Amino acid sequence: MSQHATVALKRTGAKVNRATCADTVYNAIKAGYRLLDGAGDYGLRRAIADGIVKREDLWNTFHARDHYVDPAHRYPPEWWGDDKKVTSPRFPCRRLGPMEELVDLGLAKNIGVSNCQGSILQDILRYSRYEPAVNQVELHPYLTQEPLIKLCKTLGIAITAYSSLGPKATIASKHSKTTAQVLLRWSVQQGLAVIPKSNNHDRLVQNLDVDQFTLGEDEIKAISSLNINLRLNDPAEIDPRMAIFA
Ligand SMILES: NC(=O)c1ccc[n+]([C@@H]2O[C@H](COP(=O)([O-])OP(=O)(O)OC[C@H]3O[C@@H](n4cnc5c(N)ncnc54)[C@H](OP(=O)(O)O)[C@@H]3O)[C@@H](O)[C@H]2O)c1
Repeated sequence: MSQHATVALKRTGAKVNRATCADTVYNAIKAGYRLLDGAGDYGLRRAIADGIVKREDLWNTFHARDHYVDPAHRYPPEWWGDDKKVTSPRFPCRRLGPMEELVDLGLAKNIGVSNCQGSILQDILRYSRYEPAVNQVELHPYLTQEPLIKLCKTLGIAITAYSSLGPKATIASKHSKTTAQVLLRWSVQQGLAVIPKSNNHDRLVQNLDVDQFTLGEDEIKAISSLNINLRLNDPAEIDPRMAIFA
């Protein structure tokens, strides 16, 4: 059972089905997943109560103070408020602020950040009391981000790759694996964590099974050479003021 496996959930339609969500989280934990991205507490209580896992063995990335939106009110929280408007937050990126208070209180063990390129990471390290443990960024063969991987390794900050399943690779049949498994292995073999999203149990199990084969150096290079610096997630498409990758 891997301690580094991950699961991520997203709504399947306009409305998320709470029971389906809870079952998916519960079954994912049962299958060996330990890192939950954006999953709230659905399914967690049941998995802990049934003795499948202890709370301290789980990572969860669903937390905030000012920006917290009760899932009963709206899920996913989306980028806009009840007035359907996007408001630029008056919160400095260089300070981890309320998250540091959670560490002080013993409510959080580590702090993670997301979508931080080099200059922001440097500022966070200058101004925050705790160093971020992980940086969650879009990373796949079409956006390989080698300089950022190098910087984070130098700074001792782990990287979690998201949108791992965006592009397709052709090396899969040689290893009798699926394209998704090759894409995940390509990330894992570079020392990155992954958070593949799936609401399908068979695919969740499949995505966990990426430890039993190794890609050759030439295969890693061949996949990396697909890089075209393509971002599949750019908040600027929602509101031009949010062009954080400009
Ligand atoms: N920090 C950020 O700014 C940011 C931005 C974007 C996403 N994220 C997070 O990253 C995580 C990943 O989400 P993502 O949107 O990037 O999706 P993804 O992991 O790239 O997955 C994309 C799609 O692949 C399908 N899939 C999963 N396993 C598969 C398999 N073995 N074979 C074929 N298809 C498969 C899934 O559909 P099925 O459900 O039908 O299996 C899913 O809709 C989520 O937790 C998300 O919240 C973070």
